[in-house]
Amino acid sequence: MTLPGTLGFADVFGGTPDVVWRAPGRVNLIGEHTDYNDGFVLPWALPLGVTAALRRNDSGVLRMVSRQHGGSDGGVVEAPVAGLEPGSVEGWAGYPAGVVWRLREAGILGGEGFDLVVDGDVPAGAGLSSSAALECVVVRAIDDVLGLGLSGPEAAAHARGAENDFVGVPSGVMDQMASLLCAEGSALFLDTRSMATRQVPLDLDTGAGAGLALLLVDTNAPHQLVDGEYADRQRACAAGAAALGVTALRDVPLAGLDDALARIDDRVVRRRVRHVVTENARVLDVVGLLDDGRPDEIGPLLTESHVSLRDDFEVTVPELDTAVEAALAAGALGARMTGGGFGGSVVVLARSADADTVTDAVAAAFATRGFAAPRPVPATPSAGAHRLSGPTR
Ligand code: GLA
Repeated sequence: MTLPGTLGFADVFGGTPDVVWRAPGRVNLIGEHTDYNDGFVLPWALPLGVTAALRRNDSGVLRMVSRQHGGSDGGVVEAPVAGLEPGSVEGWAGYPAGVVWRLREAGILGGEGFDLVVDGDVPAGAGLSSSAALECVVVRAIDDVLGLGLSGPEAAAHARGAENDFVGVPSGVMDQMASLLCAEGSALFLDTRSMATRQVPLDLDTGAGAGLALLLVDTNAPHQLVDGEYADRQRACAAGAAALGVTALRDVPLAGLDDALARIDDRVVRRRVRHVVTENARVLDVVGLLDDGRPDEIGPLLTESHVSLRDDFEVTVPELDTAVEAALAAGALGARMTGGGFGGSVVVLARSADADTVTDAVAAAFATRGFAAPRPVPATPSAGAHRLSGPTR
């Protein structure tokens, strides 16, 4: 019989899981393409995420089932833990396998096997970190079962390592830190150099935020980070830092931007640097306004971020630009693409009273342009990774 809350674990593997965990997807309010430049980011966790039921086994084999990808046979993917190496497990199962591989490489795991069932509701390809949610829920479930006591940044580093080094998708650490450490009702202000974090209240129903809404819209434009564009941006930023003789672009102050740009020969690298330096400053400004109880004033900074990502960083696509333009024309206070770009989602700040008008305007603009219909995504600031069930400790 299927036990409620254990994702049908008994039907696939028999018995019960040791633990059940949940980790969310994320949306980034501001601070885009800054996390691999030692910069600042401000994501919050979505009510959408991945749930994982996990049990340690003695067989040395990783046995994995996804409720989204299972075939009629239940779709168990099996991988001997000792044989894990980058490229050895493909598709969705590469993410949990990558976590186990990474923990083994780090000397944290031996040859332990695990039985795993995962179930998720973060739309894939929407730039909302469905992969980070999957990595993080598996890290936390294993951490719990084995009593590893991993800190948030340690867990995030392992999750990111799975993505970068096992699956082979380049990224910074924002998505994993957000999935692990966000808190309900808040955005997570993260300094990706020191890994210091602070919860910034993002309660838009009451207090200073009353009457405001943060809307999230998946443009449904195909989003792909493995196509080389993301790695190309990382290389350009590294080239900019090298040209300026700094460790990372985080070290270039806004006040010194013009001087810095004058010292960079490559026109494209100059634009990439300008985005990162101005974006870091915008994150600090947004955090300042939120701290001051002035959330209604962050709109122009969100829109400036989008313009910078469009013109200087060149990671938008027509669907993202159209969504932002339509939202602003319909009275939104600010709007921007969120995530890596090249497709994915936009985040919009609007007066609550205008929310429907804004959403309808985006849909109408997409219909006019012949784009696939955009999809509103629930975006209430939610909890980071948490345990749903397991033994009392
Ligand atoms: C992707 C990456 C993140 C970050 C964003 C851009 O989501 O996974 O690490 O670099 O792009 O801000």
